[in-house]
Amino acid sequence: MKPLVKYRGGKSKEIPHLTKHIPQYNGRYIEPFFGGGALFFHLEPKRAIINDINSKLIAFYLGVKDNFETLKTELSEIEKLYVVNRRKFEELKSKTPDERVDDENEPIYYQIRDMFNDLTEKKIF
Ligand SMILES: C[S@@+](CC[C@H](N)C(=O)[O-])C[C@H]1O[C@@H](n2cnc3c(N)ncnc32)[C@H](O)[C@@H]1O
Repeated sequence: MKPLVKYRGGKSKEIPHLTKHIPQYNGRYIEPFFGGGALFFHLEPKRAIINDINSKLIAFYLGVKDNFETLKTELSEIEKLYVVNRRKFEELKSKTPDERVDDENEPIYYQIRDMFNDLTEKKIF
């Protein structure tokens, strides 16, 4: 699985170098400096404790956990609409490449931002 947020200092690019140093282990995964959690999402441990000094970031993850089903439904509806709008946009753009073309996905970007802000009680990290 990929991280839910892009986060400064994320370890996504280092994963191939890191994994070869991680032994086979069935215990609990403990990540004290979670950030974007690139390694956690890559390893997908069954049992884990995560921590971060950034309380807004933790509020976000708790929001995702506590609203998971609603969030999943809303995001999959948004994704369907996004795909349709994107196709329309690309068709129009290919017909009139030098003109500004309306992007019906613009409100979607704000909608997603608001959804994620709601998860952290309007706090942006
Ligand atoms: C670079 S990120 C970690 C990346 C992550 N482990 C990964 O797999 O992508 C570092 C994180 O450590 C957190 N951090 C820094 N000092 C901390 C502390 N004293 N206690 C807990 N978290 C801390 C920061 O808030 C930041 O989110």
